[in-house]
Amino acid sequence: MKGQKNAEVTLSTSATQGFSGVATYWKGQKGADIIGPCFSSLNDDCARKMKYFLTTLAAFIVASVTTLASAQEIKGNVIAGEQKIALCMGCHGILGFHTGFPEVYRVPRISGQGAKYIASALNAYKKGERKNPSMRAVAETLSDQDIADVAAYYSAHGVVEGASLPAAPAKAPDTAVAALLTKAGCVSCHGSNFSKPIDPTYPKIAGQHADYLYFALMSYKTEGKPLIGRSNPIMGGMAKQFSDEELHLLANYVGSLDGELKTIQQPRLR
Ligand code: HEC
Ligand code: HEC
Repeated sequence: MKGQKNAEVTLSTSATQGFSGVATYWKGQKGADIIGPCFSSLNDDCARKMKYFLTTLAAFIVASVTTLASAQEIKGNVIAGEQKIALCMGCHGILGFHTGFPEVYRVPRISGQGAKYIASALNAYKKGERKNPSMRAVAETLSDQDIADVAAYYSAHGVVEGASLPAAPAKAPDTAVAALLTKAGCVSCHGSNFSKPIDPTYPKIAGQHADYLYFALMSYKTEGKPLIGRSNPIMGGMAKQFSDEELHLLANYVGSLDGELKTIQQPRLR
């Protein structure tokens, strides 16, 4: 929120500077040369110059207004989100639901996941940066506002007030897994308990389904396939350091931990 306010301030300052730039242009030498004489005599040449000047000014105003509008962050609304998740429940609201295409694994738990990460993942499916035919089709139906609303809804879904995970996992990794975790510094981004990411667009991964985690890790290594693959450069760099078997060990360990992610069975009709 604070960052957003600052961004607006900065932008409107630069917009004001821009306006004063145009005003100087108008008042200054150049402006005087171009349109100055026009105040005394209006002829065709002046009309053309005025038109040029006004078009430039108009284009400038449009550009400034557009920049200001896009700086405004879209706010998600939990209640609005609840009206938009009927489709999602069919896969994410069924305990133990497996996807069968393009591979068989459990559909990820998304209740309790961070809102900004949910939004970032949905945008990635929409843009094709994450390849998954079902999720791409779903994400393409969602507007930016829908994405913000469903993200707000799922991030609050099933969250128990006051519940907090210990800073470190109760279950320590064996030496093989510990070495892999250290090699890539997984906790430096996903948090010491794999549920406190250092950036809100990074996921909580503790307690996520292990078969999904493995598939996700493999996706970051996959390139040039039409239906599988994720192009995220950060995780690409991580996953490519490891063999498939090592990713398996990592996924099994992280998936076995206590976490904040849930699948909450939802009645399809209420
Ligand atoms: C047809 C089944 C299906 C439907 C319907 C569906 N999803 Fe998904 N969703 C999946 C599968 C499968 C994945 C894992 C895709 C992959 O491997 O990247 C997924 C992944 C996701 C992820 C990424 C999770 C993560 O940990 O990275 C989010 C967020 C998500 N879905 C949100 C939604 C929302 C919100 C809706 C409704 C608007 C929805 N999904 C509808 C099957 C579905
Ligand atoms: C430099 C920061 C960083 C490090 C280190 C890192 N990750 Fe990630 N991780 C990310 C980001 C960012 C994403 C989200 C990528 C995206 O949007 O697809 C992510 C996504 C993931 C996902 C996908 C989760 C999902 O729900 O789909 C898994 C699994 C994962 N990381 C596991 C690991 C493991 C295991 C390690 C250590 C081997 C690791 N990460 C190290 C930043 C990091």
